[in-house]
Amino acid sequence: MLNAKRIFQSPLTCRVGIACVGLSLMVLTTGCPLLGDPCADVTCDGDQTCVLGTCVDPDACANVTCDAGEECVNGTCVSVDLCAGVTCDAGQTCDPATGACVGDAPTDPAGFVAASAARGGALYDKWWNVPGVTATAPTDDHAFWATQSTNTRSGSDTWRCKECHGWDYKGANGAYATGSHFTGFAGIFGTTLTAQEAFDTIRDGHAFGTAGLTDADIWDLAKFVLTAQIDTDDILDANNTFTGVAAAGQATYDTSCAACHAADGLTVPPGGDDTFDAFVGFLSNDNPAEFQHKLRFGQPGTAMPAQFDVLDLDGIADLATYSQTLPTELTAPPTGGDAVAGETWYGANGCAACHGAGGNDGFAADLTGAAAATILEKNDGTQTHGGPVIDGITQADADNVAAWLAGL
Ligand code: HEC
Ligand code: HEC
Ligand code: HEC
Repeated sequence: MLNAKRIFQSPLTCRVGIACVGLSLMVLTTGCPLLGDPCADVTCDGDQTCVLGTCVDPDACANVTCDAGEECVNGTCVSVDLCAGVTCDAGQTCDPATGACVGDAPTDPAGFVAASAARGGALYDKWWNVPGVTATAPTDDHAFWATQSTNTRSGSDTWRCKECHGWDYKGANGAYATGSHFTGFAGIFGTTLTAQEAFDTIRDGHAFGTAGLTDADIWDLAKFVLTAQIDTDDILDANNTFTGVAAAGQATYDTSCAACHAADGLTVPPGGDDTFDAFVGFLSNDNPAEFQHKLRFGQPGTAMPAQFDVLDLDGIADLATYSQTLPTELTAPPTGGDAVAGETWYGANGCAACHGAGGNDGFAADLTGAAAATILEKNDGTQTHGGPVIDGITQADADNVAAWLAGL
């Protein structure tokens, strides 16, 4: 007789006479045995029939067979709309016979095709230092700057893409969400602009054309924006530690970086304007997002080569991971030397002519952090030296110079 348990366990939850209607008559017979006859007192209009107590239209298509490419709608065969739900690119149309998009696929503007994402990445940094840029650094504030007040920098800094959009390209949603660089401006990561739109935004919307960047410069920037951004979360964990393989990175570092930065990363090569914070170990730990960008696109205006066309993202991650293991600061300055006396001796013996007044701003080797033994050996003739042999140089002189250099 009644099988209430089976009714209520039906996967289609047949609440008597309602939910199963129209789903499948098979279900009615197999899954939903009836409780008596709910149609007993129901009278239906016209050709409707009573199913589970409800009047429904007959399935007009039940006995209709349509040709290929057609489907039955209300008992009539109509062509299937193959283009329904198909979205074609600009300049293309959907072919109703096949449902495929036809017509000329839109091509990127020629300027974009010819552009260099690697150069665009360098321009994202201090663009006025990038070779080929004829414009000079602006001295006024960028027009957008007035719409924020939290970042108090001024002048050329306000024209660097990175100052507003961040080294991680995520603007106020990334590393610049807090701190002195916060502006509140959005990032550009994940932008959906077309090549032409990106170009127009940068040249006209941001007035970089007026600032003196050429169309070719701006296409390079657009190409960087659309093809060369990375999600820094792919190579950095939540603790800002790079997630590559340090051993693999060391091999790259030793062949590609050590010649300029020294094996320990504590030599700042001449040509830039930074000193202590340009140590490889320091910058990779202090600002990993900036570090990955510098690795990929180089240091604008210096001999530092970009790795963008050399290493894939894993290679960058490995190199950055090894870099984070390098020392972040010079080892403890030598004790015993007299820095003031050392500075005087350095000046009196003409070292600045080649090594620069600060020990690291000449054309010859960077001396910051030079050990007393090296200074002694270079200047007493024990080792070859691009500079002079100093008659009578003592260990104490070398100690004094080393103490002064270490404190710079
Ligand atoms: C002074 C701050 C500032 C600087 C510098 C700046 N931007 Fe922007 N950028 C913005 C703001 C604000 C927006 C959003 C409003 C707008 O598009 O006008 C934006 C929007 C964008 C967009 C559009 C993103 C999207 O999906 O809508 C791109 C692309 C872009 N910037 C690229 C650049 C590039 C490349 C540079 C360097 C050449 C740069 N920006 C320099 C502030 C800046
Ligand atoms: C041909 C010499 C040269 C080579 C090779 C080189 N660099 Fe540099 N690098 C420089 C110079 C010059 C600077 C600018 C220093 C400054 O800003 O004072 C620089 C700057 C940097 C900076 C930015 C420092 C800052 O303060 O912004 C980082 C990071 C860096 N180099 C890492 C590397 C790594 C890692 C490699 C290996 C892939 C490498 N460099 C290879 C010459 C070189
Ligand atoms: C005529 C230019 C010139 C003068 C002047 C000069 N040097 Fe040098 N120095 C060089 C050059 C070039 C190198 C790099 C090549 C080499 O090691 O010989 C160098 C290298 C060094 C080194 C080795 C640095 C390193 O990283 O290994 C030390 C130390 C040094 N100089 C100290 C001095 C001191 C101290 C004076 C002043 C008494 C001085 N130099 C004056 C040209 C000069």
